[in-house]
Amino acid sequence: MRREPDEVGQATGPGHVAIIMDGNGRWAQMRGRPRLFGHHAGARRVREIVEACPENGVKYLTIFAFSTENWKRTQVEVSGLMKLFQRYITKEARALSDVGVRVRFIGDRVRLNDKLVELMDNLEILTAHNDLVHLTIALNYGGRDEVARATKRLAQDVALGTLDPETIDEETLPRYLDTYVLPDPDLVIRTSGEARISNFLLWQSAYAEYEFIDTLWPDFTAEEFGRLARKYGARDRRFGAVKA
Ligand code: FPP
Repeated sequence: MRREPDEVGQATGPGHVAIIMDGNGRWAQMRGRPRLFGHHAGARRVREIVEACPENGVKYLTIFAFSTENWKRTQVEVSGLMKLFQRYITKEARALSDVGVRVRFIGDRVRLNDKLVELMDNLEILTAHNDLVHLTIALNYGGRDEVARATKRLAQDVALGTLDPETIDEETLPRYLDTYVLPDPDLVIRTSGEARISNFLLWQSAYAEYEFIDTLWPDFTAEEFGRLARKYGARDRRFGAVKA
């Protein structure tokens, strides 16, 4: 039976929401400010959305902070973003840990600077015992890059003789992805009016629901997040099957 969004309670919320946080640059430009001003405003939004997860039935939240393609931006913007990530981790670590958030990072760390990687490692360790909300931050992440890195490791296991190619099926590759401990996303939200997935969680989102909304990320509120979560709860997901 289909239910109206308002009747839907926590149990039917999207257990895993992934967000493409887009629109920081336009938000800043509309105010006559540099793009980094928008990224700082965007970073401040993250906590509010993380804190709204439990009441909306969201156990896993995955956010796209920096893509493998974002290196093509100006040096000023890239280095400003890297500094912002360092500052964010340093400043938010204790607060996130204290409210029961477990933080993980996905993406290729090889190109990130050592100081940032150390902060990321430490935050993962500091929050490893938490279980209220699992926040995953995608940093230097690209879906194709992730599949390529996973395939390389899988091929190495075949070469070593620890993986029999005959046993490879749909369950095998996900074990080599950065997200191997996470469930697949139920709902993917992209802000700022663009209807693209931009190389985000390509394998994992095969059956996700999508919401493309006009709001620019720095204006995205807990109320809007809750509305999208309730709307999701009213949807009918069949995963390719026919309804009985
Ligand atoms: C896309 O907006 C946003 C990014 C490339 C960076 C996302 C980063 C944040 C929201 C802040 C940091 C997050 C954390 C976890 C600290 P855009 O610059 O492409 O916007 P535009 O499309 O309007 O130009």
